[in-house]
Formats: sequence, C-alpha cells, structure tokens
Amino acid sequence: MRFENKADVLLGLQWGDEGKGKIVDVLTPRYQLVARFQGGPNAGHTLEFENKKFILHTIPSGIFHDGCQNVIGNGVVLDPFIFNQELDSLGLDMARLRKSLFISGKAHLILPSHRLLDAANEHSRGKQKIGSTLKGIGPAYTDKIARCGMRLAETLSPGFRQKYEERKKAHLTMARNLGYNIEELRLEGMGFEAYEAAWFQGLENIWKLNQIESEIFVNQALDDGLKVLAEGAQGTQLDIDFGSYPFVTSSNTIAAGACTGLGLAPSRIGEVYGIFKAYCTRVGSGPFPTELFNGDGDKLREAGNEFGSTTGRPRRCGWLDLPALKYAVMLNGVTKLIMTKVDVLNGMKNFKVCTAYEYEGRRVNYLPPDYEPHKLKPVLQNVKGWDFDLSGYKSIQELPAGLQEYLNLIEAHVGLPMEIVSTGPDRSQTLFNQ
Ligand code: GDP
Ligand code: IMO
Ligand code: MG
Repeated sequence: MRFENKADVLLGLQWGDEGKGKIVDVLTPRYQLVARFQGGPNAGHTLEFENKKFILHTIPSGIFHDGCQNVIGNGVVLDPFIFNQELDSLGLDMARLRKSLFISGKAHLILPSHRLLDAANEHSRGKQKIGSTLKGIGPAYTDKIARCGMRLAETLSPGFRQKYEERKKAHLTMARNLGYNIEELRLEGMGFEAYEAAWFQGLENIWKLNQIESEIFVNQALDDGLKVLAEGAQGTQLDIDFGSYPFVTSSNTIAAGACTGLGLAPSRIGEVYGIFKAYCTRVGSGPFPTELFNGDGDKLREAGNEFGSTTGRPRRCGWLDLPALKYAVMLNGVTKLIMTKVDVLNGMKNFKVCTAYEYEGRRVNYLPPDYEPHKLKPVLQNVKGWDFDLSGYKSIQELPAGLQEYLNLIEAHVGLPMEIVSTGPDRSQTLFNQ
C-alpha cells in the first residue's frame, strides 16, 4: 500500500526541556532520517555521549549518527547567524554536512529586525511579558502568517535585498512606536548593525548547504522505505492553540505540527513518542499549577540542573501534573510514553504528584477554560520516595519496587505503559521496556 511506511513523531508533553534531544539521539540508530518540524533557536536540545556535550538549537538531534539524514522542515524559523554559530560548534566538516543536512527553502527567516521587535514587544508588555527567549520567534511567525515573511529560497532572488530593507524599515517603525530605544539593543553581544553584518555572513554560508523542498524529500524517503523520526521543539503546554495562551510560543508544538511543518499527511504519522520529566519545569512567565516556591523547588532545580539550555535562566520547578499530562497525551495521540530525570527524585524521602485540581471549591480533573490561576490549587498525592543506585539496571522491568510504584501510578492515570525511562543525561543512561 502506498502510504504504509509512516513517520514517527517525538515531542514534549510539558513546558519544554523534557529531554527531547537526548532521547532523539538515543533512538536515531533506528531511523535514517530525523526532521525538525517547528520552532527555531528558542529550542535548546542537549546531547551527551562519550564525555562530550552539545546543545542544538535548529539542527536535528540525529546529526551525530553516521548515515542519518537531517532535515530542517518548512515549519521551522531559521536565524542564519545562530545557525552558523551552531554549525561551528559541532565540529563537522562541510563534506559531511552536505551529505547529512538538508534545509527547506520554505523555512522562514528570522531577520535581525525580528529580534529587535521581540525585545520591543516584551519591553512594552511590562509585568505581562511572556518571558520569551528573545530569539525573534514571535515576530518571524507573525510575518509568516501575515504573508509578509521571507523564506530561505527567496534569498537568492534579485528582489531579496529590497524586500529585506522594506521589512526592516517596517519593524524599526513598530519598535519605535512601542517606545523602544534601539540603541540599547544587544544581540549576541553586538549592536544592531554589527549583528546584521554577521547575519548576512551566516546567510552566505547557508547557501553552501543543501536547500530542498522538504515535503517532497521526506515523503519520497518514506516511499523509499526509510525510517523517519520527526523531532518536536518546546512542549505541548507551550502550543500556540492549546498552551496557556498568551504565555506560549508561536507555533503548533503538538503532533499536528509535524503534518504542517513537514508536509506529512495525517495518514503518514505512525508512532507518537510523548516525553515528560518525572516532575515539571517551566521557564518564562505564565501559569504553572504545581509550581514550588519552597526548598523542594530549590532541591529539584539543583539536583536536575534546571537552568535553560538556550538562555541559562533558572527554570521554575514543581511536582508532576497528571491532569496536564493526560491532556497532552490526548492532544498528541501519544502511543509511547517516555519519562526522563527519574534520578533527580532519587534520595527524596517523600514527594508529591498532582492528580486533580480544586477550583472555586470544586474538584476538577482538567484545567477550567479561562481559569484564574490564583484560584486554582493542585490536589496533591504523597508518594513514598526511594534511594537506589540506578546505574546497574538494564530495563524498566528490573527497576526496584519503590520506583515501579511511581511508574505504575503514572501509567494507570494516563492509560499507557512506559516505553523508555531515562536515568541520567548520557546516551547510555536509558532503560527500555523489554
Ligand atoms: P530538550 O529541550 O527537551 O531537548 O531538553 P534540554 O536539553 O533543554 O533539557 C534537558 C536537560 O536534562 C539537559 O541538560 C539534559 O542533558 C538533561 N537530561 C536529559 N535526560 C536526563 C535524565 O534522565 N536525568 C538527568 N539528570 N538529566 C537528564
Ligand atoms: P525546547 O525545545 C522551554 C518558552 C520561553 C517563553 C515562551 C515563549 O528546548 O524544549 P519564545 O522564545 O518562543 O517567544 O518564548 O516559551 N520556550 C521554551 N521553554 N524549552 C523550550 O524549547 C522553549 N522555547 C520557548 O521561555 O516562556
Ligand atoms: Mg531545551
């Protein structure tokens, strides 16, 4: 049958930083093509192996495996400066990159003036700021939807420079109208003009790489029988439609985003790997029902090294939120569950998990529409802690009873078995369901 070979999807079920990069890297030997479908340099995906550590922002996490093709899809927004910096940090030569990295000509560009506008927007919001990574994501997607964005493919056309100048002028006017002082702006340590020059240099380097029609490329790969994994960025609770709007990112982070961000028909989606941490974190503003403001939150932050991979900001920490997880499983049609960072809970005498919420005196097991965060309280269940050396185990089934109870509690609530449990940041610290 024509569409029998399907692409699998891996995405975050919480507020991002669930460990997507690590798990994509672990799963890549099963795949011949890994494709990013949305987001941009707001993402920071960490990979650790052989005592080396890499943080990827735009490049798919299959890049370190020989023979794996890596695709940046049409749904991604691309900043040539950051992209180039990232390429430099990988230490991969041009010959290898030309064989393994493919970029959609339909991917939209993040212009330096999009970053300026991101800063101006946040500045004007005052206390209501989103807590954006300030990488220009919102303004770049805004231009895409407003049909005045710029795509990678058009950068080689004769009208490119003129359109660039027009967009820049419009963005500068908008930033000034918001009362933003452009002289104050620092982009990667540079003023606007210096950054702009470096940005154009980055663009010239991108021209040396493979530009493709990624929808044709990926569908052809599936027709040829290749195994394809679509890699999500951010997480379900940051989705533009289903996250805690307006404290979200500007793309569809859910499984449906893989269809629009790669040109895959829904009938071409196979397994959906949903990944979550054994607790919750959030970076930036917005409601977070299980957030901890006490020593437990500090313990999680310290033990989990919860500082942003892209911005270095301390992440807000809280207990695992099961109603939110269940909602995310529903939105994505998750077929395989992955839990990371169980090692971080190791050694805690007791901890808690949220099983429902209380809102205006009523118990509910979902977030009420347009709820007022200060009126919502998590209903917390106590969990007895454990203290084991997790290094010797080979499969999920072998894990000791105390930890199994926590897994059982989650599986029962969500209605899916755990496929992978991660016990540390390294590639090797990964247990499978056997
Ligand atoms: P991503 O954005 O989803 O790829 O996640 P990040 O890389 O931003 O954040 C996850 C962090 O946790 C990184 O520093 C990873 O190296 C680390 N990590 C991943 N899995 C585990 C795990 O099981 N245990 C611990 N302790 N750290 C992990
Ligand atoms: P990965 O892929 C965690 C958050 C920001 C902010 C909001 C909007 O590493 O999981 P944006 O820059 O998109 O305008 O920011 O979303 N955010 C992330 N938080 N992980 C991410 O990506 C994130 N990307 C954006 O902190 O609250
Ligand atoms: Mg991250």
